[in-house]
Amino acid sequence: MSHLAIDLGAVLLLALGLKGLSRIRTARWANGLAAAAMALAVVGLLLDQGLAGWPWMLLGLVLGSSVGAVVAYKVPMTSMPEVVALFNGCGGVASLLVALGASALPTPLGLLAVVSVLVSVLVGSITFSGSIVAMGKLQGWLPTPGWMLLPQRHGVNITLALLCLTSSVLVLNGLPAGLPALTVFSLLLGVGLTLPVGGADMPVVISLLNSYSGVAAAAAGFVVGSQLLIVAGAMVGAAGLILTQVMCTGMNRSLTSVLFGGALGGGATASGDGDQGYTSVTSCSAEECALTLEQAERVVFVPGYGLAVAQAQHGLKELARLLEQHGIEVSYAIHPVAGRMPGHMNVLLAEADVPYEQLIEMEVINPDFPRTDVVIVLGANDVVNPQAKNDPSSPLYGMPVLEVDQARSVFVVKRSLGSGYSGIRNSLFELPQTSMVFGDAKQVLLALTQELRALGVGKQAVGATP
Ligand code: TAP
Repeated sequence: MSHLAIDLGAVLLLALGLKGLSRIRTARWANGLAAAAMALAVVGLLLDQGLAGWPWMLLGLVLGSSVGAVVAYKVPMTSMPEVVALFNGCGGVASLLVALGASALPTPLGLLAVVSVLVSVLVGSITFSGSIVAMGKLQGWLPTPGWMLLPQRHGVNITLALLCLTSSVLVLNGLPAGLPALTVFSLLLGVGLTLPVGGADMPVVISLLNSYSGVAAAAAGFVVGSQLLIVAGAMVGAAGLILTQVMCTGMNRSLTSVLFGGALGGGATASGDGDQGYTSVTSCSAEECALTLEQAERVVFVPGYGLAVAQAQHGLKELARLLEQHGIEVSYAIHPVAGRMPGHMNVLLAEADVPYEQLIEMEVINPDFPRTDVVIVLGANDVVNPQAKNDPSSPLYGMPVLEVDQARSVFVVKRSLGSGYSGIRNSLFELPQTSMVFGDAKQVLLALTQELRALGVGKQAVGATP
């Protein structure tokens, strides 16, 4: 088989892998396909280029695979955004090195190759330094220095961008000293663009950097004349851009406000910001909530960021199991940006072995809320705020939300009346069908399970013969 046929096979596998990643059920299998595509690409390259320098390739293979395997086994799911940021950075630096290596060869490069080197160095460097800063910020290693939030930062970044442009013009005019200058200025630009971004906006930036790493790889493909790298890079670039767009729509934020709004652009979340003028809030105990649950036929749980903070996924699964034993239909409503990273709730519930079939996406579950007896909102806030639908003056207005206010009874489990990520009040808390159950999600779920057991729920499965 010629290496061209192998390349084509690798591209097809990669495309199928990307497609499969869009569904939870096929994601694991799709990941395997994409990995097989990479392996096939390496085989195609070796067939084409021969095995010259094989000890280096072997060293790279062993080192890369070992680091990848250790990271995959050790890193907890909650640290995935940091890992993705680090891997994006690796992609960026790889393209940067390929471009610098190609430009150091004695053979003169044509105009297309020189332009590709410039794009690869610029985008690769921004991706690398930006990703490292993003990872450092998510890990809590890097704070946002106060001066980085001053309006003058835009001037600094514009100056760096102009210096990158000048260095590129120097290279195009045959002055090789422009290339190291371009590398340094682009690395600084990556830091300057990422450092002021607020921690909670970081997942959007990481997704964008993922897209950049694809662009850098595609440019590197032009430098080394590899169609496979061009196609694969373009796919990664497009997929990253689409994910960025989906996340921005889900958060009702523009990409410009995420990138240039700085750390003040998004509330850091959490509690303790007062009662925000609530006047008619009803609260109840776990016991009262359990009594309503026991009578229900259909219950929907809405997980949010607070569920992840409380690490209450296993308690939730236990409560759901009990309800199901009692013949109650249980499902979970998943908002695309609930939590703090793409797929956060899916990952969290998968940890507790909640079946995929019970995780229902927002567009699918919204029409079902009017026929739902009880909704239990667990540490979610912004993603269930009805103001997003009916209050044009609200900053959330226009953001698609889970329409839990349509259900017969709603219980909101959280520690206080504090706001969520957006920092705004939630009119759901004051609706007549809503009751607040104050407390840590894990403790409340445990109390609910105990109350239901005390009521005899789960002692005898429905349909079981006595
Ligand atoms: P949020 O609106 O952030 O609300 C989380 C709520 O959890 C808080 O109001 C907090 O209230 C509660 N909480 C915290 N710790 C808790 C605990 N131990 N037990 C019970 N409750 C607890 O969460 P959400 O509804 O999931 O919405 C996500 C928000 O993050 C959206 O605004 C979204 O735009 C934004 N965002 C999402 C992403 C992605 S990709 N998912 C990325 C960046 C930003 P108390 O303090 O009163 O308990």
